[in-house]
Amino acid sequence: MPVSIEKPYVEYDYKPLYDPFTTEFQADPFPVYRRLRQEAPVYFNEKWGFYALSRFDDVRAALKDHDAYLNYEGVDIDDFDLEQRGPGLLPDLDNPRHDQLRTVVQRAFMPRSIRALTEQIRAVCDKLIDGFGDRRRVDLSADFAWPIPFEVFFDFLGMPRGEVREKFIHWTHGIKHREPGSPDLTPFARESTHELREYLAELLRERRRNPREDVLTTIVHAEIDGVPLAPEDIDVAAEAVGLAFALYIAGIETTAGQISTLLEQLARHPEQQHAIRQDSKLIPRAVEESLRYRSIFQVTARTTSRPIEVHGIEIPAGKRVFLILGAANLDETKFENPEKFDVHRTPAPHLAFGEGLHGCLGNPLARLESTIALQQLVERRGAFTLDAEPRRYTTTPNAYVFDSVPVVFG
Ligand code: HEM
Repeated sequence: MPVSIEKPYVEYDYKPLYDPFTTEFQADPFPVYRRLRQEAPVYFNEKWGFYALSRFDDVRAALKDHDAYLNYEGVDIDDFDLEQRGPGLLPDLDNPRHDQLRTVVQRAFMPRSIRALTEQIRAVCDKLIDGFGDRRRVDLSADFAWPIPFEVFFDFLGMPRGEVREKFIHWTHGIKHREPGSPDLTPFARESTHELREYLAELLRERRRNPREDVLTTIVHAEIDGVPLAPEDIDVAAEAVGLAFALYIAGIETTAGQISTLLEQLARHPEQQHAIRQDSKLIPRAVEESLRYRSIFQVTARTTSRPIEVHGIEIPAGKRVFLILGAANLDETKFENPEKFDVHRTPAPHLAFGEGLHGCLGNPLARLESTIALQQLVERRGAFTLDAEPRRYTTTPNAYVFDSVPVVFG
């Protein structure tokens, strides 16, 4: 019988071992992850009242156990979801509604549909590389990684082009905005969320009148068991708006962060960059390795539906459990020399896209964008190294994202 204890790991000093809301932790989470895996695989944080799992097998098992670990309290570890919740937000739904809504958009995200975007993505990357001109110094995050999903993903979703795109960029940066070191959303974040939801409701109404080949049109015309998903009057609280909102926020920062990290790591490892230039088959491997090594979505969260035993420790029902994907992907029992970035690594499953019912819907798109971005950069420009330390993007504490990776070519 498991022993039910509220405190499976004893904090040795006043400072919690794992406090994801501090700037100190955020600056370098990785030594803490190592200690969690080794010393406290079932960690309880008294200050905030959450549990945390960090070993690969434990995190994976939790992601796949949809009866014991529920999503109804959201996947964000701070108050983002509590404030920005609403019907239709896919990551926050449990079954049966989750699968019904996911099915509405699943087809659009299947690898075959996504492959059709190849030429468009290549053209976007080429245009951005053209924009470097003959500059030797370029910011590969701000001037390359970030603009790619803004162009590709918003077209795919069905967001209008033109001047209004500036507004989308403003909202994207706004939605998850925080002051560094604070878990609270700023007024900018609240305002952006509200404006974006209003705008999406209007756009869905417009697509109902004028259907097009895009995801918004798919959403507004969807029926679930013969019942229209979108009501007659689409207001900001409609499930259809929540679904569109969930996609909007999932597709930019993640992909931009992923491409930034990939290029940051290659800038730090000239010999691996060289290997890729010699053998382009290593490009997809480099993409997977950067996903594993510095997972963009570092941590997700669930709520227990019943008491659960892990390593002889009981996690009571109704508790928040943080599943640290970024720690699981560095588990020394799964990956040899895990804290080394290595594009030659034999491909092995990682959890950077999650797994199970809530596994990343956009992973074929994110993988394709990253792969083509690297292909085009390698083909068209010479070797690059870091010109200054990369800068982290201020966003939810779930994420590990750069918004500046200054490099010098040649
Ligand atoms: C490299 C880029 C990306 C990474 C690392 C990433 C990571 C993740 C992870 C870890 C999850 C699972 C969260 C959980 O289980 O709690 C997830 C879910 C999701 N992702 Fe991504 N993602 C990326 C790009 C995208 C893109 C481009 C889209 C496009 C819309 C997208 C849409 C979604 C959606 C809708 C979900 C929720 C799925 C569900 O609950 O059924 N992601 N993503």
